[in-house]
Amino acid sequence: MHLDSEEEGILNGREGAAAKKAMELLVAIGEVMGAERMVRVTSSQVSGVSYGNIGDAGLQLLEDWAENGARVRVPTTLNPCGMDLERWKEMGVDGSYRAKQLRIIEAFRRMGVSTTCTCTPYLVGNLPKEGDHIAWSESSAVCYANSVIGARTNREGGPSALAAAIVGRTPMYGLHLEENRAPTVIIDVQAELRTRHDFSLLGYAVGRRVGSGVPLFEGIRRADRDDLKIMSAALAASGGIAMFHIPGVTPEAGRWQCRGLERVAVGARDLEDCREALTCDGEPDLCCIGCPHCSLEELEEVARLVKGRRVAHGKALWVWTSKKVREEGERTGHVRTIEEAGGMVFTDTCMVVCPLERAGFRHMVTDSCKAAHYVPSTAGMKTTVAELREAVSRVMENGR
Ligand code: F3S
Repeated sequence: MHLDSEEEGILNGREGAAAKKAMELLVAIGEVMGAERMVRVTSSQVSGVSYGNIGDAGLQLLEDWAENGARVRVPTTLNPCGMDLERWKEMGVDGSYRAKQLRIIEAFRRMGVSTTCTCTPYLVGNLPKEGDHIAWSESSAVCYANSVIGARTNREGGPSALAAAIVGRTPMYGLHLEENRAPTVIIDVQAELRTRHDFSLLGYAVGRRVGSGVPLFEGIRRADRDDLKIMSAALAASGGIAMFHIPGVTPEAGRWQCRGLERVAVGARDLEDCREALTCDGEPDLCCIGCPHCSLEELEEVARLVKGRRVAHGKALWVWTSKKVREEGERTGHVRTIEEAGGMVFTDTCMVVCPLERAGFRHMVTDSCKAAHYVPSTAGMKTTVAELREAVSRVMENGR
């Protein structure tokens, strides 16, 4: 791999032990992946923040990096951690878990990372420009950034995203290269997409069918930001998809010649198969909305659905978002409406990375296929997927 003189200097320890270690990791990845050189990044987004996921070994590693002078040199944001940093008790989190989670956050803060704790960095100020090279590690945000924003990132691991933030570079391979952003398969969408949940089902179905590559969707007439956000999450959950195109919607869709590509039809039956695969028998006792973290518009939709109603006894409505969006929702009154109805609006964490099993629920209903994909293994709970209105109604008084 060719390194310029500054990169050679970092590798030789001229900028300290932490930067040297970060560069060593990136060079090793670059060599394995066949990168010819590094590329400068404009931002990073780091996953591996929940104490429940990284444990004591991860905590120790992060504290060592912070202690050894690791400092990020590009704007860097954090993925959700393992608890709401203020309302942790209401989630069933105990004091010792909290203490370790706070040490993780503090280690990142010492490295100069903005402790946003959200999987939607593009909604809280970490918004790259089209063509920017970035190093992001949250899979839904990676897919959204490549596809919807037109920024360029591979699906980084937490350590490689942090290393990229520390040296301001990442190896130039994969989706950083123009030729790898070309569509590899055409998805002929034959199902009608009526709700946001349908976009989640479509993403999940396509991830299952094609697994990897860069799908180009034909037949999608309209999609808003939140439709694309939830579809990105589902594509990356059931498959390893990190980029897609939609003509007339995503910025790079018109660049490519698609003649000769394989065509895969996805119809209503495929979406229904996914819904059935993610739905268990029985009555849900917890509704989770906000995978990926809710935008202000999504908070408003939930508020509209619960206004004047009550969450049923023994059930719960938990909504997940970033601190910044919650603050906006407090100003607009949406948070108050949800909480007056008996719901909770949590920040900094999500249903997949917090210790949800400690809260004592058995069956989660959600509009997000990604959440339903992971929660059975992370929290041992049953799941049901449904469009937003129905999902919320399942935990409300006189719901159904
Ligand atoms: Fe975000 Fe958690 Fe879903 S990190 S995309 S809310 S699994």
